[in-house]
Amino acid sequence: MCGIVGYVGHKSVMDILLDGLEQLEYRGYDSSGVAVMCEDEIKVYKAVGKLNNLREELQKHRGEFEKATMGIGHIRWATHGAPTVLNAHPHTCTCGNLVIVHNGIIENYKELREALSKEGCIFRSQTDTEVVAHLVAKKYAQTKDLAAAVREAAKEIEGAYALCVMHNDCKQTLVITKRNAPLLVGIGENEFFAASDVPAIIKHTKKAVYLSDNQIAVLTPEKMVLTDANGQEIKPKIEVLPWEPVALSKMGYKHYMLKEIHEQPDVIRNILVGKLHAPDEDIILNEVKLTKEHLKNLNRIQIIACGTSLHAAMIGKYVIESYCGIAVDVEASSEYIYRRNVTDEHTLVIGVSQSGETADTLTAIKQAKAKGSHILIITNRPDSAMAREADSLVPVNAGIEVSVAATKSYTAQLMAFYLLALYMAEIKASASKEELANLKTELMLLPQKIEQILANTDSIQKCARIYSSTKDFIFVARGINYPTALEGALKLKEISYINATGYPAGELKHGPIAMLDETMPVLSILMKGIVYEKLLSNSEEAKARNARMIALTNSKDAKLDDLFENIIRVPDVDELFSPLVAIVPLQLLAYYIAEFLGKDVDQPRNLAKSVTVE
Ligand code: AGP
Repeated sequence: MCGIVGYVGHKSVMDILLDGLEQLEYRGYDSSGVAVMCEDEIKVYKAVGKLNNLREELQKHRGEFEKATMGIGHIRWATHGAPTVLNAHPHTCTCGNLVIVHNGIIENYKELREALSKEGCIFRSQTDTEVVAHLVAKKYAQTKDLAAAVREAAKEIEGAYALCVMHNDCKQTLVITKRNAPLLVGIGENEFFAASDVPAIIKHTKKAVYLSDNQIAVLTPEKMVLTDANGQEIKPKIEVLPWEPVALSKMGYKHYMLKEIHEQPDVIRNILVGKLHAPDEDIILNEVKLTKEHLKNLNRIQIIACGTSLHAAMIGKYVIESYCGIAVDVEASSEYIYRRNVTDEHTLVIGVSQSGETADTLTAIKQAKAKGSHILIITNRPDSAMAREADSLVPVNAGIEVSVAATKSYTAQLMAFYLLALYMAEIKASASKEELANLKTELMLLPQKIEQILANTDSIQKCARIYSSTKDFIFVARGINYPTALEGALKLKEISYINATGYPAGELKHGPIAMLDETMPVLSILMKGIVYEKLLSNSEEAKARNARMIALTNSKDAKLDDLFENIIRVPDVDELFSPLVAIVPLQLLAYYIAEFLGKDVDQPRNLAKSVTVE
C-alpha cells in the first residue's frame, strides 16, 4: 500500500509528481504529499484526503516551486497513525534538511524511535516512517554521503520498504532503495523517474529498471549509479515495459469499474490467444514447467490467495479436482503463513494474485518455495515480485485494472484455472479427449455469452434500484458457484458498504435462516447442473421465511416466476463454466447499487488495490 514517486531531470517536477500520484491512487488515498527542491531549499506540501486536496493546497504556493526540477511524492494508506497532515509523507529529520517518502512497514520502529529520541531527535508524527528520516540523517551526519547514509541506515531497519530520499546538500540527487516492496526507475533523456508501479511513469518512458532488494540507486539528471548492499556497483538490467498509456483511460465510461466489467469478453479472448487454438488441439501454456513426471509425483495442490483471488482459487479447486484427480486445498494466504503447514516437494503450490504484490501471498509463496514445492503463479502482473518467485507462470493478460474492486482480473484468473486444469488433464490423461474437446468448445463460446449479458442490463438495473436501500444482502449458491456467492457479496460490500454475505445454500438452515424476514433480500445463483434442484429447495425454504427472493439463473423453468420476486437471466452454459457467466451480473448489480447510492465506486473507503502489508 502507499505509492511513491520521484523525479530528477530538467522538467517542471510538480506536474510529474502529481500526475504520477494520480496514477498510483489505487494504492491508497487517505492523504498525500510532495517535497521539491526549490532554489534555496526543499519545500514540503501535504494534505489529508484525496489528491485533489493536495492540488488545492499547492495552488496557494504556486510561485515557490515553478522552477523546481527534482522532487518526491507520496500517496498514503494509513498503517501507523491516523490520516492527518502530520502523519502524511514526506517526513523530515529534526532540522528539516533531509526528507523521505516510504512505502511499506518498518517493524522495529518502536526500538529505533526510542533510541533516536534519546539522542535528541524530535518526532512529529505517529508513523513508523519518520524513524527512517532521522536514522538516515544521523548516518549522513557521520558519512556526508547520502547513498552511504541510506546503506548504513538500511542495515538497522527491519521490515519492508521502498524509499526515496532527498537532502538539502544534494541539489540534484535522489537516492532510492527497497526491500520487500516494489520500486522501479524509469529512464528518460537526461531524467530519471522512480515509482512504486508502472502507471506513474508510463506516460514518460517505457525503459525501466526494477530494483532488487537492498539495491541502492543514486539518480542525477545525467546518470543512474546502482549499487548492492555492500556498495559494489551493478550494471542495471534495463527492461522495456509492455504497457500502453491508453490502458489508463476510462474510454468514455463513468468509472473504471464499469469499463473493466465491459472489457471481460475481450479479456477472455486475449487469454485464449496462443493458448487454445481449436477444440481438438492441445492447450499451450509455455511458461508452465510441470512435466508428466512431475504431475505423477504430486500428492496434492495448495492454492493460496486473498480476497477476490481467493474466490477464483476456490473455483480452481473445483475444476482441478473434477478433471485432474488431484486433491486441492485452498487457503487464505494470511492464515497459511502463521501455522505449521504440511508443504513439501510433492505439493504444487499455486499463488493467485492480480497485483502479484500482496504481502501475505508473497510471504506464503516464499515459505512454500523454501520447503521445496514447485511454485506456480497466476497473476495479471508478469513483472511483479510474485512472478519473479515463480517456477511456472500463467499470465492472465487482463490489462491494467484500475478500479479497486477486482472484476476483469477475476474473470481472467478463472480462465487461467480452466486452462491449467484442462492442460494438466491432457498431460495426465485424466479425462477423455472427447470430453476435453467439448469443454474447449464451450470455453471458446464464453465471450459472446458475456457480451449478451452486457448488452441487456435492464433486469440488473431494476434490482439495483429496488434493493439499493437495503442494509443487508444474502447471496446463496451451491457447488461450483458457492465462491460466486462469496464474490458477489464481496463486490457489493466493498463498493456500496451494504452488509452482504455469501452462504452455501445448504448451510442456511444451520443458522443464517434465523436472519430472514420480509426485509432481507436473498439472491440465489441458480445455474443448471447437479445442485440446481437442491438449491431450488433451499430457495423455497428462504421464501417460506418471507425473504425477498431474487434469482440469477440460466433456467427457463416456469416455476421460478412464482418463487422469485425478481429474476436476472443469463445465457445457457455448461455448469463448469457457469461461474464466469454468473459473476458478471453480480458485478453489475454491485456497481449499479453503489452508483445509485452515490458512492466512490473506483476508490471505496478504507481500501487499497495493492495490499503490500501483512
Ligand atoms: C477485490 O475486489 C479486492 N479489492 C481484494 O479483495 C483483492 O482481491 C485482494 O486484496 C487480493 O489482491 P491480489 O489479487 O492483488 O493479490
